[in-house]
Amino acid sequence: MDGGRGPPFSNPWGCAVSVNVAVVGATGAVGDLMRTVLAERHFPLKSVKFLASEKSAGKPVTFAGRTYTVEPLRPEAFAGVQIVLSSTPGSVSKEFSPIAAKAGAIVVDNSSAWRMDPDCPLVVPEVNADQLHHIKKGIVANPNCVAIPLCVAVKPLHDLGRIKRIVVSTYQSSSGKGAKGLIDFANQMSAWAAGNPVPAPTAHRAQLAGNVVTLDWTLDPNGFTEEENKVVNETKKILGDATIGVCPTCVRVPVRVAHSEAITVEFHRPVSVEAARAALAKAPGVTLMDEAKGEFPQPIHAEGSDSTFVGRVRQDPSNPNALCLWVVSDNLRKGAATNAVQCAEELVKRGIVK
Ligand SMILES: NC(=O)c1ccc[n+]([C@@H]2O[C@H](COP(=O)([O-])OP(=O)(O)OC[C@H]3O[C@@H](n4cnc5c(N)ncnc54)[C@H](OP(=O)(O)O)[C@@H]3O)[C@@H](O)[C@H]2O)c1
Repeated sequence: MDGGRGPPFSNPWGCAVSVNVAVVGATGAVGDLMRTVLAERHFPLKSVKFLASEKSAGKPVTFAGRTYTVEPLRPEAFAGVQIVLSSTPGSVSKEFSPIAAKAGAIVVDNSSAWRMDPDCPLVVPEVNADQLHHIKKGIVANPNCVAIPLCVAVKPLHDLGRIKRIVVSTYQSSSGKGAKGLIDFANQMSAWAAGNPVPAPTAHRAQLAGNVVTLDWTLDPNGFTEEENKVVNETKKILGDATIGVCPTCVRVPVRVAHSEAITVEFHRPVSVEAARAALAKAPGVTLMDEAKGEFPQPIHAEGSDSTFVGRVRQDPSNPNALCLWVVSDNLRKGAATNAVQCAEELVKRGIVK
């Protein structure tokens, strides 16, 4: 079946609305998973099409048990499309997202191109879904894959004690660099395990096998990396509080999928571990793990899950107003594809897309 003009999809939501969707960047690490997530969540599709660069046009992709042909990303591809789920480089989104919006679609964009645009909401549905009612340019920005689980985990704590400052160190997986990162990871780790010379990295800035890399991103003039500056700016925008201090150190580690974060949260008043755990236990999107039972969040468990795993909740011994926690989440799912599909779901549920 070509171009997504198939029979209507089943609609287990039971809602009256079904939507014409285009997945842009469908051949990438995020775009590939977007198909899985749309199918798993039974998104109410009327039609779906898959777009990528000219070089991928004509390639087959499977979705919901059918084969589709990847179409080239061209302006005319957006005719009749209501929601675009876009996962391309930022430069491509800068060019094509406004074209899609002008054609009448709402674009949920995974790149960094629109995140700090004041006219584009930056949305984590568990935290600030109400921002979807303020779409001025037809574009909703999906936040960075560190900022999303960080905000999911700290929002219930912010509600308890109002956050003053966040210090976060990350342990980010290779898949954060997309399909090319995953190729680096596979080639390097297999050579490393076999005791062979490790091939030079192509996506990463340095060898990943047996190493950790803190300059895997462009260095900005303020001495922080581009990734770290995204975490600072996006966290404040998502939590809706520009006064929150955020100090990140972003590090790439030899893990295939799922980012981990060591977070220290300072509040304006003391928040007990018990109150924090109680709030996290009922927070949407959070799976709270209990180290007393030997449980702790790990990337190998988070991979393939849509949850944000939180554990090691403890009092900061150096500050009575601060707590420490450990957070792990699948960067390709909750950090990208799942969050985007959740935004699309909210657009439908809230009647913004009819
Ligand atoms: N990986 C993550 O953990 C993650 C998390 C959050 C956000 N993001 C963001 O999501 C976006 C995609 O990331 P990714 O990791 O999936 O990257 P990726 O694996 O490199 O995939 C990029 C996708 O964009 C398409 N593309 C590239 N240039 C294009 C062009 N000129 N016209 C049309 N399509 C084009 C590619 O198509 P071809 O295959 O045809 O080249 C591919 O489908 C990026 O902006 C990234 O920053 C990634």
